[in-house]
Amino acid sequence: MHFERRTHTCGELRPEHAGTSIILNGWINARRDYGGITFIDVRDRYGITQVVIQPDTHPEVAERAKALRGEWVLWIRGRVRMRENPNPKIPTGLIECVVEDFGVINESAVPPFEIVEDSQTNEELRLQYRYLDLRRPDLQRNFLVRNHLYRITHDFFAREQFVEVETPVLTKSTPEGARDFLVPSRINKGRFYALPQSPQLFKQLLMVAGFDRYMQIVKCFRDEDLRADRQPEFTQIDVEMSFVGQEDIIALTERFIARVWKEILDVEVATPFVRHTFHHAMNTYGSDKPDLRYGLELRDCTAAVAGSAFQLFADTAAANGTVKALVIPGCAGYSRKQMDELTDHARKYGAKGLPWLRMSGGEPGGSIAKALGDEAARQLLGSLEATDGDLVLFAAGEWERVCLILGALRTEMARRTGILESVAGTYSFSWVTEFPLLEYAEEESRWIARHHPFTAPMVEDIPLLDGNPHGARAIAHDLVINGYEAAGGSIRIHKNDVQQKMFGLLGFSPEEAMAKFGFLLQALQYGAPPHGGIAFGFDRLVMLLVGNDNIRDVIAFPKTTSGLSLMDECPSAVEPSQLHTLGIDLLPQTS
Ligand code: AMO
Repeated sequence: MHFERRTHTCGELRPEHAGTSIILNGWINARRDYGGITFIDVRDRYGITQVVIQPDTHPEVAERAKALRGEWVLWIRGRVRMRENPNPKIPTGLIECVVEDFGVINESAVPPFEIVEDSQTNEELRLQYRYLDLRRPDLQRNFLVRNHLYRITHDFFAREQFVEVETPVLTKSTPEGARDFLVPSRINKGRFYALPQSPQLFKQLLMVAGFDRYMQIVKCFRDEDLRADRQPEFTQIDVEMSFVGQEDIIALTERFIARVWKEILDVEVATPFVRHTFHHAMNTYGSDKPDLRYGLELRDCTAAVAGSAFQLFADTAAANGTVKALVIPGCAGYSRKQMDELTDHARKYGAKGLPWLRMSGGEPGGSIAKALGDEAARQLLGSLEATDGDLVLFAAGEWERVCLILGALRTEMARRTGILESVAGTYSFSWVTEFPLLEYAEEESRWIARHHPFTAPMVEDIPLLDGNPHGARAIAHDLVINGYEAAGGSIRIHKNDVQQKMFGLLGFSPEEAMAKFGFLLQALQYGAPPHGGIAFGFDRLVMLLVGNDNIRDVIAFPKTTSGLSLMDECPSAVEPSQLHTLGIDLLPQTS
């Protein structure tokens, strides 16, 4: 079909173009009729240009233009002129184009929602028509940032002598951590590939192969519960290096992040980043990924409440448990409803209830004021340096649980009190290190690796592996930006015997370890160099760079939190014949 090809994009025209004849191609963004004159905003990914249809000078054009509707695709020939009423909000706002001729390249059905910035349309409908949603300029900007990050990443790692290597997508299932997505094999019936949760083992094998510095921007797949910052398929910048220690990986990461923030946001990032041990981060902020843009630090009051008249506190202190408090200025006036909401929030994180105190008009009050007694309540509030107008939330029990409950409340209170809004557009970068090597998985009743089973223990903790492995710390490092885990990595075990010991700690018999990870154990017998690395959550970096807290807004075709793609409706049923070819029979579905 014939159309006149554009001479300029819709974001390009400026006053210096006034008087020139131009051609635009684009979509009708909006149309306004004023006393016979029609204004049309024409949109492409570069911007929006106002075009004017004047019946007095171009009656035939005006007649044909009556049929035009939103999202039709046009070519437009016209002359640029200065606008009588400039629009300072858009870069082309000083000019407009008087239409001399136009053609309809394609019509459009009436879109199911308006294509505007900051759309208020519900997300499900937008995801169903994602190709229309992606026409929105705010979403398009996210993808331009994403694209910029691809380019900086490739350039940065190339300059640092990294080699980009592709690792397989059809891999062996080695479930550790999240569940695998499985892919049945047709020619090897009854056998399955797994989609990689990360290229972890392949990048280690590339170190054994001598590649020395590897990187890859790579898709990873995890069948886990989804949240606002998690997708079942997501992208990592995966990095591994040989003959390095943790300091080398940390320094490289800081150089990379500083360059990204400078080039994309023009923000100077101060390095080195502050470092917290896992214990300190949990104890002080109630999180292993603390948002350091604000204080609200947790306070320990176990000693202060020993022998307290409030039984829960006294019992917890006596049983070597922990009692901690979070002091929130200005919230003493919280209503019963608000306190109920906070209690419900605490329950989601394992609290049985939410003891609280307040200082209001010089008088202590709150759910445990009576039980404590006036004097003890005053003393406790005083020891926590709570002053008039403060609300104090408590948690009592096992240390890590107590930290997590108050950490969740810390984030919630930062949101409710407007602190989060006030720090928008600022950034905090930190490292969390010295994670426990192992953690107890309640559902499986066994110890699992906190990071992954290939992470090396801290040298001084190696002796603990024989008697008290649960006290051992890992040479692991997480990069935390504004409360998000933006990257995680570690130094790896490069000795066969240590790796075997680690598998033993995780409850694998030598035979099981060989069956699952034989290829790794074998490779570690052939001169594996010391190595370590890190993987960045690419989507999370983009989220942070565009200041969005919804990961779906930076992924072109994302899944919902139930793992569905609403546009192409996957996952979907398949033909019985396809299953037959694969040798698969479905069990009857109960739900
Ligand atoms: P880890 O599991 O910590 O480490 O993942 C690295 C980073 O990937 C991001 N991430 C996710 N982003 C979106 N959706 C998800 N479901 C998701 N899961 C993880 C996070 C995280 O910090 N192989 C190791 C890395 C290493 O040891 O080098 C690994 O995958 O930002």
